Amino acid sequence: MTKRVAIFISGGGSNMVRLVEDMQAGNHAGEPVLVLANDINADGLTKAKALGVPTAVVDHRPFKGDRAAFEAALQAVLDQVQPDIICLAGFMRVLTEGFVAPWEGKMLNIHPSLLPKYKGLHTHARALEAGDREHGCTVHLVTPALDDGPILGQAHVPVLEGDTPDDLAARVLVQEHRLYPAVLRRFAAGDMRPIMLP
Ligand code: GRF
Repeated sequence: MTKRVAIFISGGGSNMVRLVEDMQAGNHAGEPVLVLANDINADGLTKAKALGVPTAVVDHRPFKGDRAAFEAALQAVLDQVQPDIICLAGFMRVLTEGFVAPWEGKMLNIHPSLLPKYKGLHTHARALEAGDREHGCTVHLVTPALDDGPILGQAHVPVLEGDTPDDLAARVLVQEHRLYPAVLRRFAAGDMRPIMLP
């Protein structure tokens, strides 16, 4: 039975594009049924429409910090679409336990670090400040604790002499685009074995 996949974005949606393209390439247990953004100006919405995927916007700003109200609006959209899997892909809003708990085991996120290192923001600058020789990205199941759930996949990149945070972000993003589709393809087929890309 095909798994209905909703993807949450906040900006450019480059990870979303790779996920949708991989599902549309065929022989995939998932189908993209929604791209939802928390910003009407998210460039990823245009890309989703071009790929033929239904879109929705739930702008967080009118809720003025009332996370529960914002998340109720998110859930109302999901009640209409009935996804089986949610992929957070460059989604920049923190979700509370109230929203996450019913989706535990069905919600994935990609984080630009080798978790459990560098949960939260500014991961590339932190890796550079620490003098790390290796960095990368992680796909994990979302739990109420931030960037903390079971790891479903990781990809590694070298840290090179003179790297800036932007250099590192660009190198990691290339690996995100390899890792996330590979993990979703396996996860949608019911296979929870982690994928470790060299
Ligand atoms: C990127 O910095 C990526 O590392 C993180 O979210 C940001 C935007 O990704 N996952 P996308 O292009 O919107 O997928």
